[in-house]
Amino acid sequence: MDMFFVEGGHPLHGSVRVDGSKNACLPIMAASLAINGEVVLQQVPQLRDIVTMRQLLQSIGATLDFRSDGAVQIDSRNVRSSVAPYELVRQMRAGVCVLGPLLTRFGHARVSLPGGCNIGHRPIDLHLRGLAALGADIRLEGGYIVAEARQLRGADVDLCGPHGPTVTGTCNVMMAAALAKGHTIIRSAAREPEVQDFAQFLNRAGARISGVGTSIVEIQGVEQLHNVCHTVIPDRIEAATLALAAAITRGNVMIHNAPTMDMTRVLNTLVEMGVTVDTTENTLHVRGSAPRFPRFLMAEPYPGLPTDCQAQFMALLSTVPGRSEITDRVFPERFMHAAELVRMGADIHIHGNTAMINGVTRLSAAPVMASDLRASAALVLAALAAEGRSEIRRVYHLDRGYHAFETKLNQLGAHIRRVNDECANGIPRPHSASRFAVAPTVDRPSIDGQTRFAAVDADPE
Ligand code: EPU
Repeated sequence: MDMFFVEGGHPLHGSVRVDGSKNACLPIMAASLAINGEVVLQQVPQLRDIVTMRQLLQSIGATLDFRSDGAVQIDSRNVRSSVAPYELVRQMRAGVCVLGPLLTRFGHARVSLPGGCNIGHRPIDLHLRGLAALGADIRLEGGYIVAEARQLRGADVDLCGPHGPTVTGTCNVMMAAALAKGHTIIRSAAREPEVQDFAQFLNRAGARISGVGTSIVEIQGVEQLHNVCHTVIPDRIEAATLALAAAITRGNVMIHNAPTMDMTRVLNTLVEMGVTVDTTENTLHVRGSAPRFPRFLMAEPYPGLPTDCQAQFMALLSTVPGRSEITDRVFPERFMHAAELVRMGADIHIHGNTAMINGVTRLSAAPVMASDLRASAALVLAALAAEGRSEIRRVYHLDRGYHAFETKLNQLGAHIRRVNDECANGIPRPHSASRFAVAPTVDRPSIDGQTRFAAVDADPE
């Protein structure tokens, strides 16, 4: 398993480019199963979760061609199976996104329940409730969701859950409704930019979806969807993570291909903390004044502060003098990174779904363990700011959602070394020097790097 050595205390300087959005791309790839033809996706990020989705679609019978320009061609004409196996779905919860597409394509689907998760309790009852409202007959059998429907029919569906709307649930139901007979209204629909991108993809393929980006989405079912070419939106969470990396190191970084319009709450929060932020439509310039003002933050569904940035903000607030708080309303238990930040000298106490943070003047290096994707990013940020050399284990979590993260940061002046910690004598073995010195496009494993990824039995999230 890979780990990072991070030498802290180097302000980040320079410019960096954001990749395509993981959370937009995954449900779109899944939806291509409902199109009896060809789909071309551009700006697909090279991530482990994308490889897992690729394996899942291939296991179902789709053909995928990953091109060197970052585009992916998906041909679902020969898809014959409607089964999504446990071995793949358990590795990545987004695997459940194939449920809606398979059900619409075949009238039946057998999709493994995703299983446990590191960031808290994550039921899929709203996905099932929505599909049932459209006329699917759903039962659980041997750890699998078995869904059947001769003809899905439009309906009035409310997808509000105890923690707000559901992102992938909205995609699943939207997908099914797009090919159902008649008119569907989804109330309490998720409004995230990734859901909007999903709807735009379907509309380009011939769907008739309106109200996207609001909490009431209307869908007029169509007979079939056709071939489509779509460019995936840039990743607002990667852009935010890079912005916070600049802020925590008091650096000066220009972030290109940043979807700044979708980042209003994140950027406003940084400004309120005293960070200098300048934006255009797709660039973000974060400058190095030390954040001075503690904040009380609430992670909420879009347009609120994203839960996927909560851990990174916790790292940053740990370095801001005064008392801050972060409450996570989306995943109230998503705080496993807090204990690791405390190991680095942060002063954090968890009470229910709220973290109380007393800013410290300096974080100090420590050996720490990543527990999930965003927790890994938070630990890297903290290590960049800490005094001394930190060791971050289990960075395979990071590879699920950030392409060439350490290379991008190193090009901005960070000192991060990826090493393999599995050598027999227990002394971590550095990878070849070139892995730390070259451009992101060649530094990270290619999208075909299945052997390397297959070695990791990842915890799902
Ligand atoms: N929920 C239910 N019932 C459901 C579905 C969700 O109660 O049927 C609850 C969840 O337990 C949670 C809340 O509703 O408390 C929101 O969950 P949601 O369904 O929106 O999450 P998701 O669709 O499974 C996506 C992202 C996550 C991101 C969340 C929230 C993808 C592939 N994943 O998950 O991304 O945190 O939305 O924005 O889109 C990440 O990238 O690190 C990540 C975890």
